Amino acid sequence: MTTGPASLHGAGLGLRRAFVRALLDTPPAAVDFYEIAPENWIGMGGANARRLRALTERHPFVCHGLSLSLGGPAPLDLELVRAIGDFLDVHDIAVYSEHLSYCSDDGQLYDLLPIPFTEAAIDHVVARIGQVQDLLGRRIAVENVSYYAAPGQEMTELDFIGAVLERADCELLLDVNNIHVNAVNHGYDALDFLRALPGERIRYGHVAGHRVVSPELCIDTHGSAVIDPVWSLLAAAYEHFGVFPTLLERDFDIPPLAQLVEEVEQIALIQRRALPEQRAHG
Ligand SMILES: [Fe+2]
Repeated sequence: MTTGPASLHGAGLGLRRAFVRALLDTPPAAVDFYEIAPENWIGMGGANARRLRALTERHPFVCHGLSLSLGGPAPLDLELVRAIGDFLDVHDIAVYSEHLSYCSDDGQLYDLLPIPFTEAAIDHVVARIGQVQDLLGRRIAVENVSYYAAPGQEMTELDFIGAVLERADCELLLDVNNIHVNAVNHGYDALDFLRALPGERIRYGHVAGHRVVSPELCIDTHGSAVIDPVWSLLAAAYEHFGVFPTLLERDFDIPPLAQLVEEVEQIALIQRRALPEQRAHG
């Protein structure tokens, strides 16, 4: 079975190790594909590795990196990139994405820091994305991130993202929740931002939940259910760009699998509603 780009479609779920056995025994029909962080699985042997292989043989997967630190000041970890390439080959996974941001040495998601929106940062990150794409022999997707401080801005976030995608000739992992979180925290219009992105570069999308601290502050926790404004923004994205594969991220306060599958079903429902033939049939 091939899990190339043509087979990536529909609604997906970020894979949690705790769910692997259940997904092997009774795979939920609603989940069309899964996402994993290669760093969490590279070098793993034994039963866990065999179970993952059984899953990747049966379902399309995408890989979402945590620790490559595309914007970071330290030299790229080329050993890690090669290991990721081997992992993609072993599991026949075509799509690899990373954050358009940088993180501290321990590679924790909640330590992601912003890239200053500057010409120098564009040059830096474009060169590094090019290095990764050369080593992996494919285009990668970079994700629009949530950020809480934007030091030394020379341009808007939109101009920054657009320039990176164009010059690196890479794809976009469109995180709809991150747009909502940034719109609240930085006071811009989420819909205007969404519509200004280069839709032809979208490879796939993310939705997730976040913590609302106040009307002016959201924290991107991936620790609660997706809220209605984010579902609405996802519908608007499909309306504007057409339907693209989209998955649910959940990293903390993990509920039972059935509850997550309900949210994946919600993605699928919004996708069906956005398809032209569905609309034509009312
Ligand atoms: Fe995301």
